[in-house]
Amino acid sequence: MGELTFSHRFVPGERAQAQPLLLLHGTGGDETDLVPLGRMVAPGAPLLSPRGKVLENGMPRFFRRLAEGVFDEADVRARAHELADFIEAARAHYGIATPVALGYSNGANIAAAVMLLRPDALAGGILLRAMTPLANPPAEQGLADKRVLIVSGVRDPIAPSANAARLKAMLEAAGAQVGHKVVPSGHELSQGDVTLAQQWLQAPAAVS
Ligand code: MLT
Repeated sequence: MGELTFSHRFVPGERAQAQPLLLLHGTGGDETDLVPLGRMVAPGAPLLSPRGKVLENGMPRFFRRLAEGVFDEADVRARAHELADFIEAARAHYGIATPVALGYSNGANIAAAVMLLRPDALAGGILLRAMTPLANPPAEQGLADKRVLIVSGVRDPIAPSANAARLKAMLEAAGAQVGHKVVPSGHELSQGDVTLAQQWLQAPAAVS
């Protein structure tokens, strides 16, 4: 069994058979941040929530960036593989199924990178305020049958919806079925995100 190499929180959930969620926080967050959101969108589901290992001025992230919106892609790749290995080890340790990622901002970006680089690691993804994490992802069809929901904020200067639209095209090129919604918000999350995530988890095909 692999080692659990990330500080993390695991919430077994009252519905142990429910689809588990992998919670991935934004810059400056930690493993406790998205637990309330996870409980809201998937009541009773097992929640696995790692803390990003990269520190930017003391703020945890999941990969290094050179400037806002400019990512260190070698680090993105290495960290995506490291996180995928952790997911595999945590699945064996806690006895859970392949999780769906619920990521916000930097957490959504690493979730997208994991999906593109290690398509078997996640069952799908809810990517809130996501951007394209890689300029040239592998040209594989590894995401066939996987579903992804991207939610952008119409006034988001950090992760513009045009950039998220490129991520949608990238994931679709890898075979995923991707819905992209734009909510009347900025980079911050809103009730609209919670509602869309709930609806998508219940009936992904209905939210596209
Ligand atoms: C990033 O990954 O850098 C995000 O998209 C922006 C942020 O985390 O602030």
